[in-house]
Amino acid sequence: MILSPSMLSSDFANMEAELKALEAAGLEWVHLDVMDGMFVPNITFGPPIIKAMRAKSNLFFDCHLMINDPGRYIADFAAAGADLICVHAEACTHLERVCAQIVEAGAKPAVALNPHTPLESIKYLIPQLHMVLIMSVNPGFGGQKFIPFCLDKVRELKAMIRAAGAETLIQIDGGVSLDNARELTQAGVDVLVSGSAFFKFPPYGERYKAFQDACA
Ligand code: DX5
Ligand code: ZN
Repeated sequence: MILSPSMLSSDFANMEAELKALEAAGLEWVHLDVMDGMFVPNITFGPPIIKAMRAKSNLFFDCHLMINDPGRYIADFAAAGADLICVHAEACTHLERVCAQIVEAGAKPAVALNPHTPLESIKYLIPQLHMVLIMSVNPGFGGQKFIPFCLDKVRELKAMIRAAGAETLIQIDGGVSLDNARELTQAGVDVLVSGSAFFKFPPYGERYKAFQDACA
């Protein structure tokens, strides 16, 4: 199980300290939520902030782009230091092309699906994706409630990945907690994103261990 804490719930005025605390707590990934106020009803940060974070951290930057037409900015996010770039299927007219752009830019390609978006929409892309992100809330805000049908979606995606003979990771994002972490990893989730259920409960090393224990 990989835990990717979402910086959306961190202290934005102390991002350097937050990133260092995650690293000291033994985490390897960090989830960066980019929102444009158009694809989702909220605005966060973009490449300049990620570049500033990159200068302070060696964590694996898992960048979740909740922006319209993300192909316009792939090179910028890669240059800023994104290790993985996850775009929404709903935001791309030419999704296959955008995934190729991500690879060309030197980052790992991933696609996110809103709760209602069928898995069929990414079926043919699975072999070329490093990860698929199943949104388990409607994106835009932290602290929302997990939408239960997303658990079945994870099971179906796992079967699709197996059938394709691929090694694509499954990530889940939204409403993840100590209460559902085990069910999710048993259903096939490889990467848990957690915002409010992680950052509200320091020290981070103990919280990370609590997530690991919950999944064991
Ligand atoms: C929501 C973001 C999430 C968010 C999750 O649109 O994509 O990454 O930070 O927050 P929690 O874990 O609080 O649901
Ligand atoms: Zn996210």
